[in-house]
Amino acid sequence: MPRRASRQPKIRPPAPDALDAPWRLFLAVPLPDEVRQLAGELITTFSAEGWPVRWVQPETAHLTLHFLGETPRERAELLRLALPGVIAAHARFDLRSAALGVFPNFRHPRVLWLGLHGPVHRLVALEQDAGHAARSLGFTGTDEPYHPHITLGRVRNDNGELVRLRDLPEAVKTRLVDAATGAAIAPPSRPVPVDEVLLMRSHLGKGGTRHETIAVFPLGGAPK
Ligand code: 2AM
Repeated sequence: MPRRASRQPKIRPPAPDALDAPWRLFLAVPLPDEVRQLAGELITTFSAEGWPVRWVQPETAHLTLHFLGETPRERAELLRLALPGVIAAHARFDLRSAALGVFPNFRHPRVLWLGLHGPVHRLVALEQDAGHAARSLGFTGTDEPYHPHITLGRVRNDNGELVRLRDLPEAVKTRLVDAATGAAIAPPSRPVPVDEVLLMRSHLGKGGTRHETIAVFPLGGAPK
């Protein structure tokens, strides 16, 4: 009689849409259409140059406030309870989109972004309070220093692009920095009102990343 192979049951991580799959969460400030349009125009221009960069889909462009990481979905409920008061304690304010930049530096560009100007210190204060509240609920997403930015693209290691990876730093610098002055090039500036913070779930997939809004937390009234 043939012996049946004794097979250990395989332990697989839950499928991304399984009910018990962890949620990848972050807090973001939504961008108005005109800023996403600007991001789209910049991405169209740069992507035509064939850089080895994975560009974001302009409709998903956002201003990350705080990355929360992978978490059991029940914990998202705790945020829904804790964050309204934390966010509403900050009065609404206005920022503007500013110059282009890269992380970590032009010799090793990894992330290409659109910067912000205006009362950025108020966004930093908002991030600190939201991050503090999240940590007290057990979220350990990130403790990296906060550098507000709107990501346009992330460098990847593929070959076969018009511009090779090793030539990218020079290409990026030429397009993002004014050769005469050494200053970062600033596309037309657009308003970025900071009126609300969204709790977002990120669905990673082969066709790209999809974002789902889980909750909306308005900032408080008064000063603008
Ligand atoms: P960014 O594009 O503004 O840098 C959703 O995943 C968002 O969270 C990303 O768009 C990214 O924002 C931010 N993010 C992802 N992983 C992160 C990490 N490890 N640390 C900090 N932020 C992260």
